[in-house]
Amino acid sequence: MYRDIQRVLIDQGTIAARVRAMGQELATDLDRDLREQVQNGDKPGQIVLIPILTGAIVFLADLIRQMPLKMSIDVVAVSSYPGKSVQSKGASIKSELPKNLKDKHVVIVDDILDSGQTISIVRSLISELQPASLRTCVLLDKKCVRAHQGDAAIQADYFGFDIPDEFVVGYGLDYNGYYRNYPEIAALRDDAR
Ligand code: IMP
Ligand code: MG
Repeated sequence: MYRDIQRVLIDQGTIAARVRAMGQELATDLDRDLREQVQNGDKPGQIVLIPILTGAIVFLADLIRQMPLKMSIDVVAVSSYPGKSVQSKGASIKSELPKNLKDKHVVIVDDILDSGQTISIVRSLISELQPASLRTCVLLDKKCVRAHQGDAAIQADYFGFDIPDEFVVGYGLDYNGYYRNYPEIAALRDDAR
């Protein structure tokens, strides 16, 4: 695996520090929502994190351990880069959507925001389920891709790193199903594709 890596864009220590800060920020904001509900005499909503499979699993595992709040996890599977593609083929939902999200505080978690299709589709389907609040959180953001497409309005509420339009693997991100276990964010060698 290591010999297929061309260069590291974001190393383990940098990822860990950023994920820690993101978890703390998210937890502070969710906690504020719960307190407001209590102050208003309402029942505080439950917190549900929804990782988009499969890319979000490594990020999710680290993120939730920085969030000292009572929460549950429910998953949704989306396919956008089937097989050996390195360009989005359009996002399609591959699993049932989580049920019973009404009045809950929902956070959609993904590895990367690229064209924005995946987050847009999942966000709009989940918002129909009437959560108390709905947030999106991604580790990586290719903002330049959406600026180029005229889709700059599609944003995540929380993002870890803005990266250039380059295909990356590691820390959950794959090429053709592989390299998710590589611990850093890295570019692949051309001959590994
Ligand atoms: P979008 O729908 O174009 O925003 O793409 C988001 C999805 O595409 C993410 O959930 C990733 O699974 C995948 N993706 C986008 N860019 C990359 C990349 O550079 N490497 C690996 N997967 C990527
Ligand atoms: Mg994905």
